[in-house]
Amino acid sequence: MTKSYKMSKDFLWGGAVAAHQLEGGWQEGKKGVSIADIMTAGNKDTPRRVTNGVVDGEVYPNHWGIDFYHTYKEDIKLLSELGINCFRTSIAWSRIFPNGDESVPNEAGLKFYDDLFDECLKYGIEPVITLSHFEIPYHLVTEYGGWTNRKLINFFENFAEVCFKRYKNKVKYWMTFNEINNQTNWRESHHLLQDSGLILDEKTNPEEAMFKAAHNEFVASAKVVKLGHQINPEFKIGAMIAMCPVYPLTSKPEDILKAQRAMQTRYYYGDVQALGYYPQWILNYFDRKNYNIDISKEDKQILKDGTVDYIGFSYYMSFVTEEKNYNELIYDEQNDLVSNPYVEASKWGWQIDPVGLRYAMNWMNDRWYLPQFIVENGFGAIDKLTSEKEIHDDYRIDFFRNHISEMEKAVVEDGVNLIGYTPWGIIDLISASTGEMAKRYGVIYVEQDDKGNGSKKRYKKDSFYWYKNVVETNGEKIN
Ligand code: BG6
Repeated sequence: MTKSYKMSKDFLWGGAVAAHQLEGGWQEGKKGVSIADIMTAGNKDTPRRVTNGVVDGEVYPNHWGIDFYHTYKEDIKLLSELGINCFRTSIAWSRIFPNGDESVPNEAGLKFYDDLFDECLKYGIEPVITLSHFEIPYHLVTEYGGWTNRKLINFFENFAEVCFKRYKNKVKYWMTFNEINNQTNWRESHHLLQDSGLILDEKTNPEEAMFKAAHNEFVASAKVVKLGHQINPEFKIGAMIAMCPVYPLTSKPEDILKAQRAMQTRYYYGDVQALGYYPQWILNYFDRKNYNIDISKEDKQILKDGTVDYIGFSYYMSFVTEEKNYNELIYDEQNDLVSNPYVEASKWGWQIDPVGLRYAMNWMNDRWYLPQFIVENGFGAIDKLTSEKEIHDDYRIDFFRNHISEMEKAVVEDGVNLIGYTPWGIIDLISASTGEMAKRYGVIYVEQDDKGNGSKKRYKKDSFYWYKNVVETNGEKIN
């Protein structure tokens, strides 16, 4: 390739994590119990279980994370050696409002994030903050039934207002709900819990509950976008979407239509948050199904007034679907996906498709015309710590190289307006889907096993040095 790919001077190169996956200290600083605290350890073949509160004898990996609550100073220092200029993390709602419904925030929780953000800023690292990353206070589940209850809109607004006011001079980039569209796969109950705090009984229709909860989240998100802009007009507040483009298996027209419906189903969340209204096909679907989503006239105005400033998204993989029974055109994420014969998959079955990143960026650009921010991208793999305490993770370097290369084409050739890139799990942490430590993403290794045993020492992987060079050359040297 002869063309050199120049990213803009103020491009944000960083790394991403989420509070519940690395902080630990689950009861420190008067923190309340969150939904992440009641999820047991699982693995590739055994799903995580949700227990009825914290139960003695069960194993909860988020209770210890990687102990970042105590080690953040050393960890931020280590990350600063990469030369990054931003760091994406989240604020654990239950540190600020332990139960979620209090009127007065918990000062110890607020102070923790003050200190963390100051530590970042000291090294010229800008915090990029998600307000709700898979961890609402558990009390909002037991007492209110999670996001199907409209009261949560208010509680979330209070939480956001406190954070916006407290950190208005430290944080500019915010996101409201992490991977809000993961609950498309409502057949897997952990998505309903992580996204919307839903633990459903057998009488409740999970799909209807999911649409209701998502609607309340849209209203809450739109309200806080508006509020945030009032508190600081410089704020940039984004959506956060799990972007896995869905391709048709063949050029059979029914397959094409099915893939289109799959994209519509997975990304109507982006339509509502970016455009400020629901697409007609889904309103028709609610009607046909007799779903009562309770979208009031006032809600419609709120959605219009609170569209997001940018699209934050994660990109790990692409999907493929085919039409099996062309009758009612629906997309069932659990049963309608087939494997792609043209790409390889990770040990956890995640299909590796760098070109899909460029495709997705173009697709979103054509649809929402908004700046984009890749706030997660990475390769979960088993790493081996050698006796010399080195980690030779060429597979991860290959993954990053190929994805960054496609990302740069999308920016330089296709003209997508991209704010930044924060690889996921920049430091090894607890996997969200499996609760494992063994599924590692970091460029920094943490010596700890699935049970939380180990020295917890940090070691730079080969990918650390590689990524440092990418950052230092503003994305020019990726080979
Ligand atoms: C995204 C989440 O789904 O992917 C993260 O926003 C998560 O929280 C990441 O950790 C990788 O998934 P996993 O399940 O491998 O940790």
